[in-house]
Amino acid sequence: MSHQVRAVVARGKGAPVGLETIVVPDPGPGEALVKIEACGVCHTDLHYREGGIGDDFPFLLGHEAAGVVEAVGQGVSDVAPGDFVILNWRAVCGQCRACLRGRPWYCFATHNATQKMTLLDGTELSPALGIGAFAEKTLVAAGQCTKVDPTVAPQVAGLLGCGVMAGIGAAINTGNVGRGDTVAVIGCGGVGAAAIVGSHLAGAAKVIAVDIDTRKLDTAEKLGATHTVNSRQTDPVEAIRELTGGFGADVVIEAVGRPETYKQAFYARDLAGTVVLVGVPTPEMKLELPLLDVFGRGGALKSSWYGDCLPSRDFPMLIDLYLQGRLNLDVFVSETIALDEVEKAFERMHHGDVLRSVVVL
Ligand code: APR
Ligand code: ZN
Ligand code: ZN
Repeated sequence: MSHQVRAVVARGKGAPVGLETIVVPDPGPGEALVKIEACGVCHTDLHYREGGIGDDFPFLLGHEAAGVVEAVGQGVSDVAPGDFVILNWRAVCGQCRACLRGRPWYCFATHNATQKMTLLDGTELSPALGIGAFAEKTLVAAGQCTKVDPTVAPQVAGLLGCGVMAGIGAAINTGNVGRGDTVAVIGCGGVGAAAIVGSHLAGAAKVIAVDIDTRKLDTAEKLGATHTVNSRQTDPVEAIRELTGGFGADVVIEAVGRPETYKQAFYARDLAGTVVLVGVPTPEMKLELPLLDVFGRGGALKSSWYGDCLPSRDFPMLIDLYLQGRLNLDVFVSETIALDEVEKAFERMHHGDVLRSVVVL
């Protein structure tokens, strides 16, 4: 059997996205059919539409989602119909060198659903990040589903599937922020704001928020930033040094993805500090640094891949903290929208007051 559902499809480079009817197969071995309840609009979806992530059009967009498992295929035991789940980008194998070394986010053998979802004429769809959740139902590998407490609103739970997890994980997993640390976060959009929340959660003594947009800095303060720096007006490296007794921050998190902010992050850390790169640059971007500066600064330069998260460990933990009132996730949901409003949300994405538009189904 298969299911015909409404979904947001990107047909070609730069073309506005619209609602289409797609065909979703029943789950085969190792797969799960998920009824989507909410899905956040992330920059990566727009990136797919712009042709920045390959040209495997048509793309089925949406990848920051929560929903309820409707059916599972043969051999699936970790999730069952009725489970409330958050989706992640890919199931990991648990057996390769990366998985066995405790770094499953670098797994060599990740997988998604084997069967393809299609348009009504049979054209195969490429689901964004192996998910495709701007749809009433989607098909994923069962290992992409993490069961969490169903009392949390789906528009909040879904956030953990991408941007918010990337930011919180950059702080708590990659940066290993600890009690009393000084942290600087460069770029306070959805990801950077989540890095601020993560740093606060980890017990940082000072969290310095840097952005060029004052509205982002206002939100950063509400989320636990202790200091803000407008880098249009002030040199952020000098400001961060000044705020940290001349040393630089213990952990600097870069959440923009540009050469100038990579450079600021490099120089704004303490000599033994850690730079966490979570902003994704484009292929042509380059950074030139004096080798003596690279050599002369110890510490660590790390990139953070999906917040170096372990979904089965991190999603339920963060949901628990949220339900206990110790993690402010509500503020990330700037607006809830309908499935046919994704194109409009793309337009609003660059407004300073939107952290996330979330489709609620
Ligand atoms: N200096 C400081 N902040 C900047 C600069 C700059 N030169 N340029 C842009 N910014 C700020 C913007 O004002 C905005 O607040 O960076 C923020 C970027 O936020 P978003 O556009 O909301 O992007 P976000 O979803 O947070 O993702 C940021 O992380 O995971 C990656 O792919 C993602 O590269 C992207 C980055
Ligand atoms: Zn995303
Ligand atoms: Zn593996």
